[in-house]
Amino acid sequence: MPGFRQTRWSEPTVFELGCEGRSGYLVPPIENPIKEELGDIQIFIPERMRRQEPPKLPELSEVEVVRHFTRLSQMNYCVDLGFYPLGSCTMKYNPKINDYLASLPSLNLLHPYQDEMTVQGVLEILHTLSRWLAEITGTYEVSLQPAAGAHGEFLGALIMRAYHMLSDDLSERTELIIPDSAHGTNPASAAMAGFKAIIVPSDKTGCIDVDALKSAVSNQTAGLMLTNPNTLGIFEENIAEIAGIIHDVNGLLYYDGANLNAILGKVRPGDMGFDIVHINIHKTFGAPHGGGGPGAGPLGVSEELAKFLPVPRIIVEDGKYRLDYNQPHSIGKIRSFYGNISVLIRAYAYILSLGAEGLKETAEISVLNTNYLIKKIRELDVYKLPYDSKRPRKHECVFSTKPLLEEKGIRTIDISKRLLDYGIHSPTIYFPMIVEEAMMIEPTESFEKEELDRFVEVLRKIAQEVKTNPELVFQAPKNTAVTRLDEMKASHPKTMTLSWRMHIKGQSNL
Ligand SMILES: Cc1ncc(COP(=O)(O)O)c(C=O)c1O
Repeated sequence: MPGFRQTRWSEPTVFELGCEGRSGYLVPPIENPIKEELGDIQIFIPERMRRQEPPKLPELSEVEVVRHFTRLSQMNYCVDLGFYPLGSCTMKYNPKINDYLASLPSLNLLHPYQDEMTVQGVLEILHTLSRWLAEITGTYEVSLQPAAGAHGEFLGALIMRAYHMLSDDLSERTELIIPDSAHGTNPASAAMAGFKAIIVPSDKTGCIDVDALKSAVSNQTAGLMLTNPNTLGIFEENIAEIAGIIHDVNGLLYYDGANLNAILGKVRPGDMGFDIVHINIHKTFGAPHGGGGPGAGPLGVSEELAKFLPVPRIIVEDGKYRLDYNQPHSIGKIRSFYGNISVLIRAYAYILSLGAEGLKETAEISVLNTNYLIKKIRELDVYKLPYDSKRPRKHECVFSTKPLLEEKGIRTIDISKRLLDYGIHSPTIYFPMIVEEAMMIEPTESFEKEELDRFVEVLRKIAQEVKTNPELVFQAPKNTAVTRLDEMKASHPKTMTLSWRMHIKGQSNL
């Protein structure tokens, strides 16, 4: 088994490097670009808009900047380095050609204030992408504006509000139903849009408990948010019945698209009865993610709801692409300009290069990889697969490490830290919350059989270490740039240092 040692630099912050007057780039003098029209008038920032003092930026040479960030990157783990089985986050390998295309000057030097007639090419890309996403999800129209899945959820909840407001029953529609296996952003988005989140339990098969759902539904139900396959990787087979229950009370069905990778080209949320669907471009469609962004969370809706989508909408008129702001029922704007364009261009390139058959194969291989892993991990007879273990999972699976807790006091977090010592990123842990000591594994379609086998072998080795040398696992990681962090200190408002300014002002107790 290959060893793993992460590079360890005691790297100062960028503010501690360089010295006054040093620079890496000489900015040429500003020339008046409209000299011919305005003569010799100079373009200045008006006095009242200028800072009194220049910002205290670090002053470094180019080589210092390059070395600083290269050292930092060596102390990090990324999907280009190895297996990254972060469940529900779909950390797949992103083809480099997508990055290349998104960075072409003809695309990335465009300015959002340009006249629409001068950006016909990018508008065509966005319009085509939105049509493809509508086709893939079985929706009528797609807005590309939301910046992430959670942002799509929020927009979806605002559209539910707008729909019920127009039907004159918003004051009655106060509740949004969410299963207990859902991601935390679901109830948060519901609450931000002014709804009360009603949590419905899962049944013993791991699916939403249909009887509990029936008793939660009433004339106060604005809608239901559902992830399918759900966060256990299980396909909600009763989806047609569930859709009927919600639609019978004039509620709307929202599809959390975090797990869309599992069903690409196989089945469409729109055909399952969903009225509103978000897509996490940064998970399913070949755009990198991590560290909170930048992502894109386009939202597709049924024909009836299209009028509520945010403005501007990209339309085609007389063969030209136009930005249409004239939508009286629109919920307005939810983001500046038109969305995270470079992420959307990557998705366009990804879909174009794979085609319909390639997308379908993506789903098939990701499901195959998961079920291969399940078989291999179950053979170790250490980690338990909760809920119906005979039932195949889709793109991800959730194991519980509870037996190791009971036997040796080892928790999932210890296992996840020890995985890092073997050069493997941790799966998602402690989610979904309905599984004790949860370890949520999503291999995606982009890792080879050898990599999957190595992961299983490492899990076997760790289980062995738990028995023979539990201290090793408690103290992991040892081979990484930083060893075990105090998670409480790292997330407590009193001890967090969020900026250099906070650090030098001594506001931190670290
Ligand atoms: C099931 C599920 N829903 C929603 C989200 C939120 O998506 P985003 O991170 O793009 O905001 C996630 C994020 O991982 C998720 O796993």
